[in-house]
Amino acid sequence: MKILILHGPNLNLLGTREPEIYGAMTLDDINNKMIELGKELGAEIKCLQSNHEGALIDALQDARTWADGVVFNPGGYTHTSVALRDAISAIVIPVIEVHLSNVYAREEFRHTSLVSAVCKGKVTGFGWRSYDLGLRGLVDIIKV
Ligand code: DQA
Repeated sequence: MKILILHGPNLNLLGTREPEIYGAMTLDDINNKMIELGKELGAEIKCLQSNHEGALIDALQDARTWADGVVFNPGGYTHTSVALRDAISAIVIPVIEVHLSNVYAREEFRHTSLVSAVCKGKVTGFGWRSYDLGLRGLVDIIKV
């Protein structure tokens, strides 16, 4: 089983970016944890981050050719991007939306997600554990 862990804009700054909201872990810390968890669950993990909407769309389209599913934190594009939503619904493989923070406990503009309706599931508010829970759920869904 092969899984893409995809991170959107500004998530490369984790560790120093508003740690009171996003936690102290760096993106590398999270990626390493996901690679280790993947070994435990029998999944090969590839991690990718981009600050660019088009690069994220390319990564999703490419995942269709090699991955069984995607754990995706679209960052700020969650709330704005019709194009990412269209890419998710086009690729058919399951995508799990994850957020470090609880978006519903924050500003109102974060309460709207353009991608949720085309994702298989969503995890929000557990810090880095949102990725952990998302990956576990995704692997389980693929196995059934
Ligand atoms: C985020 C939440 C988004 O609203 C925000 O724009 C991010 C990070 C999260 O992981 O909590 O960049 O996706």
